[in-house]
Amino acid sequence: MIALTRRQLLALGLTGAGAVAVGGAGLWWTNTGGAGFTTGADLAEPQALSSSGGRLDVALEAAPTRLRVGGRTANAWTFNGTLPGPTLRLRPGDTLGVTLRNGLRDATNLHVHGLHVSPQGNGDNPFVRIGPGETFGYRYAIPEGHPPGTYWYHPHHHGMAAEQVAAGLYGAIVIEDPGTVPVSRDRVLVVSDLALDATGNLAAVSPPERMMGREGALVLVNGQVVPQASAAPGERERWRLVNACPSRFLRLRLDGQQVRLLARDGRRLRVPEEITEVDLAPGNRADLIVEARTGNAVLRTLPVDRGGMDGMMGHMEDGRSGTTEPLDLMSFNVAGPPVQAMLPIPEGIGLRDLRYETLAARRTLTFAMGMAGMMGGGMGAFTINGREFDPDRLDETVRSGSVEEWTLVNSSPMDHPIHLHVWPMQVVQDASRNLSEPTWQDVVIVPAFGQVKVLIAFDGFSGRTVFHCHILDHEDLGMMGTIEAR
Ligand code: C2O
Ligand code: CU
Ligand code: CU
Repeated sequence: MIALTRRQLLALGLTGAGAVAVGGAGLWWTNTGGAGFTTGADLAEPQALSSSGGRLDVALEAAPTRLRVGGRTANAWTFNGTLPGPTLRLRPGDTLGVTLRNGLRDATNLHVHGLHVSPQGNGDNPFVRIGPGETFGYRYAIPEGHPPGTYWYHPHHHGMAAEQVAAGLYGAIVIEDPGTVPVSRDRVLVVSDLALDATGNLAAVSPPERMMGREGALVLVNGQVVPQASAAPGERERWRLVNACPSRFLRLRLDGQQVRLLARDGRRLRVPEEITEVDLAPGNRADLIVEARTGNAVLRTLPVDRGGMDGMMGHMEDGRSGTTEPLDLMSFNVAGPPVQAMLPIPEGIGLRDLRYETLAARRTLTFAMGMAGMMGGGMGAFTINGREFDPDRLDETVRSGSVEEWTLVNSSPMDHPIHLHVWPMQVVQDASRNLSEPTWQDVVIVPAFGQVKVLIAFDGFSGRTVFHCHILDHEDLGMMGTIEAR
C-alpha cells in the first residue's frame, strides 16, 4: 500500500486523532466532513496539443482554478484549468504561437525553458511583463536543427516566478524525434509540488521558507497523488520527466525494472546508460527508457540534502532543506502476458564537444548569500558577483557565435542549480573533477562551497536574456543576471 508521509498529510490537514488510513484502496479519510483523499488513480496525462503543417497556435490563460487533487478540492493557479497545463508537441522547424492571457492578480509572462530560440521581442524574452487582465502574443521559431527532447514552460516574471510555479503554472513541451526511439509508450511525467492549507487553498510562505526555497509537501505527478501506471512484461516505455518544483531536488529511483537514461535536458546520450537513480534539480528533465519486467514497482524520490542555512541563522529551528524520507510518486504495475522484445535503440548522434574548440573568453560567476538584512527578520541578499538582479543593467556581454568557459562558484552553504536561457551548457568539471564524459545540461547544480566549469557556445541567436538560480525563490530574491550576445 502506498503511504503518504507525515509531511504530506500535514499539508493536507489530514493528521490528528481522527485521521485514519484505510488500506487496500489507498484511501485516506479525515474526521473533518469525511473528505477523502485518494491515491492510486490511473495516471492521466495532460492534454497534448500538436503542431500541424509547421505551426502550433495555442491560447493559454493563467488563472486561479478550482480543481481536484487526490480527490480533494484545491484552489490552485493553472494554465487553461488543468494541472499541469497542456503539453505542447512540436517538431524541429515549427513555429509556436502562444497567446497568453493573464487572469492572475499580479504580472506574469512565459518562458520556454530549454528551447534554443531567440530571446528577442516576442520570442523567449524574460523581460516581457504582462499585467493582470492583459494578453500578449509570443512567437517562437524553432530552428530546423533543434535537438528533439523534453522541455517545459512556466512563468518568469521576476519576483513572482516561485509563487506562480508553486501555485501550478507549468506544462511540458516535447520536440518530437519521429520514430527514432522504438517504444511501446511515450509518457510525459511532470513532477511538481504543491503546498495547500487545510482548506485546500495555496498555503502562505514564510521568509525563511523563501530563503531556503519553498517546497510544497505534496509531490504530484501530472497533478495526481501517487497515480498508477501499468505495462506488460517486455514493454518499453519512454518517460519524459520534468522537475517543475520551484525548489525541490529530486533523486528518482524505480526498483525492479530496467531503467536507462536516454537524454538529459533534451540532449540524447550517445548510448542510453543503465542507472539506478537520476538526480533532477528544479528545471531539469530526464528521458528514461523503462523496460518493464514484472511485478509492482514504485517511482520514488529519495531525500536530497541541498544544504541549508545552519551557520547563517542560528535561531532557525529547521535550517536544513529537503525532505528527510523517501516519497512515493507513482506506482508502476507490470502484469499480463509478456510482449515480444523490441528493437534496440539506435545510437544518438554525436553532440558537439566544445572541449576541442577555441575559447573566446573565460569568466567566473560567484553565487552568494549575504547576511545583510537578515538579522532583523528580513531576507538575506542573493547575489551573483556581488550584485542583485537589475533588469536594466547588463551584466555579461558575449560575442555571438563564440565559445566561452564559465566557472560557476558557490560561496554559500546551499546548493544552487544554475540555469542559462537559450544556450545549453556542456558541464566539463564537476566538484573540481574533470568529467571524462561531459554532459549537456541547461540547469547545473553548483554545490555548496563548490564550483563547476561549463563550456557554452553562444550560437544561433543574438539578444539579451538571463541566467539565474532555478530555486525560483532565489531567482526572485535577486540571484539572476543579464547577458547579451552581440
Ligand atoms: Cu526554467 Cu529562467 O527558467
Ligand atoms: Cu529557462
Ligand atoms: Cu539558489
